[in-house]
Amino acid sequence: MIDLHAEATSEKMAFGHFCDGRASLVAGTHTHVPTADAQVLPHGTAYITDLGGCCDYDSVIGMDKDEPLQRFTRKLPTGRFAPATGEATVCGVFVQTDDKGLATRIDPVRVGGRLQQALP
Ligand SMILES: [Fe+2]
Repeated sequence: MIDLHAEATSEKMAFGHFCDGRASLVAGTHTHVPTADAQVLPHGTAYITDLGGCCDYDSVIGMDKDEPLQRFTRKLPTGRFAPATGEATVCGVFVQTDDKGLATRIDPVRVGGRLQQALP
């Protein structure tokens, strides 16, 4: 399993194809927002551009909204970032593999909180 911690979706997709058939799963992280492109690539690597965060989504990527909004609108920091404390959504994927370790299935998982729920 490969966790690709990166910002650019194009780089993550290219890396997924580079690894296709050589890893069970390539899962992107870092953006804190789950993407809707979970798939098994042609040679058997399960792939998703970003798993999403395990956090309160009434937030700015998991942080309480006030400070990020201040910084974006006034260009001035007024305090420190603090985690949002509402109910969290746990995000991830369910992956099934064959005897060779290649993926036969990938399903998004989202449980709790504000996001649409998804279970395998
Ligand atoms: Fe990060």
